[in-house]
Amino acid sequence: MSALEGKVALITGAASGIGLATAQLFAREGAQVAMVDRNADAVNEAARELGSSATAISADVTNEADVEGMVAACVDRFGRLDVAFNNAGIARIAPIHEHPLEDFQRIVDVCLTGVFLCLKHESKQLLAQGEGGSIINTASINATQASAGLAAYCAAKSGVTMLTKVSALELGPHGIRVNAVGPGHTKTPMTLRARDVPGFDEAMIGATPLGRLGEPEDIAQMVLYLGSDASPWVSGQLFYVDGGITVNGLPPGFNLVNA
Ligand SMILES: NC(=O)c1ccc[n+]([C@@H]2O[C@H](COP(=O)([O-])OP(=O)(O)OC[C@H]3O[C@@H](n4cnc5c(N)ncnc54)[C@H](O)[C@@H]3O)[C@@H](O)[C@H]2O)c1
Repeated sequence: MSALEGKVALITGAASGIGLATAQLFAREGAQVAMVDRNADAVNEAARELGSSATAISADVTNEADVEGMVAACVDRFGRLDVAFNNAGIARIAPIHEHPLEDFQRIVDVCLTGVFLCLKHESKQLLAQGEGGSIINTASINATQASAGLAAYCAAKSGVTMLTKVSALELGPHGIRVNAVGPGHTKTPMTLRARDVPGFDEAMIGATPLGRLGEPEDIAQMVLYLGSDASPWVSGQLFYVDGGITVNGLPPGFNLVNA
């Protein structure tokens, strides 16, 4: 039997990168998938390619009405919710003394407040169903490893790990597991700018024991494990999927601010 047979999953940031790869893997593993993104055209196209096992929902995770509506739309379409992957995120590089307030607030809004809003409305649905469930949040190796130029991003991702722990504490007695995944440097549109900087990829690969950058599918496989019944006693944890780079730490001295 496939790992997610009969389950309904909701994925945010599903039009691109890690979210898209996870939606594709989840569909292959038997799930019905609600694919959520603020990029309506891209998410419509991505869901169309997955056929009847997927539906596209256009929503901005920073807007509470949108988030409430996305859970309702998933339940309208597929009848319930079992697994949620709160993955939408953005990053911008700026030195702290020049970091525009609007940028700082937007990054925290999407990466941290967005995860809170998703947790709030998804857990409401799971509690109402009364049959448990699994929620996975996307953090980052930057939840614990500082990177110059990523003050807002690092602070937000660090916050995601604590939100994960608090939710696991509150929801565990209801059979709802909450975990976080911490990707390393993964080949998606988000990292295109950094990957254009001469020497950056080489430095990351050099510091990575497994000697390569991540593929979106590498992260999706961990989300599948956490979302499936293969992890029934796993909750409140942050799992790095990073080729081992957190063992070494990020390459010293590499500063995207000046790149
Ligand atoms: N790529 C990496 O190296 C890496 C490393 C660590 C963590 N992450 C995290 O992984 C997650 C996915 O990133 P990715 O690399 O796949 O990036 P990506 O840019 O390919 O995909 C992000 C998706 O999120 C959507 N999105 C952005 N803001 C949104 C909002 N307010 N509401 C709804 N959707 C929104 C975008 O439209 C896009 O489709 C992010 O949380 C990111 O911080 C990525």
